Amino acid sequence: MEKSLTVFRQLQVDQINSERFLDSARNDKETHMTVLGLLQATTAYFKKHDIESPRLNAEHLLAHVLGRKRIELYLEFERVLTESELAPLRDLVKRRSEGEPLQHLLDTVEFCGHVFLCDKRAMVPRQETEELVEFLKSEIQNPKSKIVDVGTGSGVIALSLAAKFPEAEILAVDISDDALALAQENAARLDLPHRIRFLKSNLLENLDERFDLIVANLPYVATQDRHTLSREVLHDPEVALFAGARGDELMRELIEQAPGRLRPGGLLVLEIGLGQSEALLSALAEKKYRDIYSKNDYAGVIRFLFARYG
Ligand SMILES: C[S@@+](CC[C@H](N)C(=O)[O-])C[C@H]1O[C@@H](n2cnc3c(N)ncnc32)[C@H](O)[C@@H]1O
Repeated sequence: MEKSLTVFRQLQVDQINSERFLDSARNDKETHMTVLGLLQATTAYFKKHDIESPRLNAEHLLAHVLGRKRIELYLEFERVLTESELAPLRDLVKRRSEGEPLQHLLDTVEFCGHVFLCDKRAMVPRQETEELVEFLKSEIQNPKSKIVDVGTGSGVIALSLAAKFPEAEILAVDISDDALALAQENAARLDLPHRIRFLKSNLLENLDERFDLIVANLPYVATQDRHTLSREVLHDPEVALFAGARGDELMRELIEQAPGRLRPGGLLVLEIGLGQSEALLSALAEKKYRDIYSKNDYAGVIRFLFARYG
């Protein structure tokens, strides 16, 4: 009883501090907040606004504003923050509490050990896609493979493979100019621009070459499922999320097109949505692909399909 009262009081203090921190911009008051106090107050504020992993979000944003590593915050818990340090944080905390993705506020995201620029021009890369890249790394036997990443977005798949396989020939395709621009900025940032070609195309339409590997994480949300998406996900571009009434339309189309663009025995790999595996596995079998199999993501969902052609 005593313990829960103490915890309750601390929560009340954190709540009051969080309102004070966010209000002080308007009231022009000094807050005299320490790093730890600020983290506790922001965590309470995020909890109130249903942000997942509230403490982690608070740490990331404060570290970003201070130009520190997250772990370094722990060395200065007692330091009082200056108003010039707090001011930019207020805006970020407010935007995060309204559902803007953390990665957009940080301008970057870590993916397969590399730091990528991340903004509203392309989808925020997901953890499942990192798993996909890890599978691909063990699947690719020939280091000089010719690879196309269809729907490259910010370029995370193509660029992670380019970094891992320096001799591979890699093409990154997207229908969105914005996504292609971001992917090219990421290539430059990772010092890989000479390693990748970029092409605007609707799936494989504008291509006339053949590949050892076609990999695609295409939009797979059905238009009528929009209401099931979180506030954060709705910040992704529409073209990165929605594929049509069923959700699997673009993947079906790619399954149709890919045999014309695969070298004999070439591999098609798809990242798919929840509950889409059965229909897509049938589509692969009907189209006479061979060695068809699926893999689960860490959450146990059938998420990746693999199939060879010819
Ligand atoms: C789900 S996002 C994946 C982005 C990135 N590959 C990743 O894993 O983070 C899908 C991408 O496919 C692109 N796209 C949508 N329709 C397309 C089409 N018909 N042809 C090529 N790309 C398309 C979108 O612009 C978007 O960048």
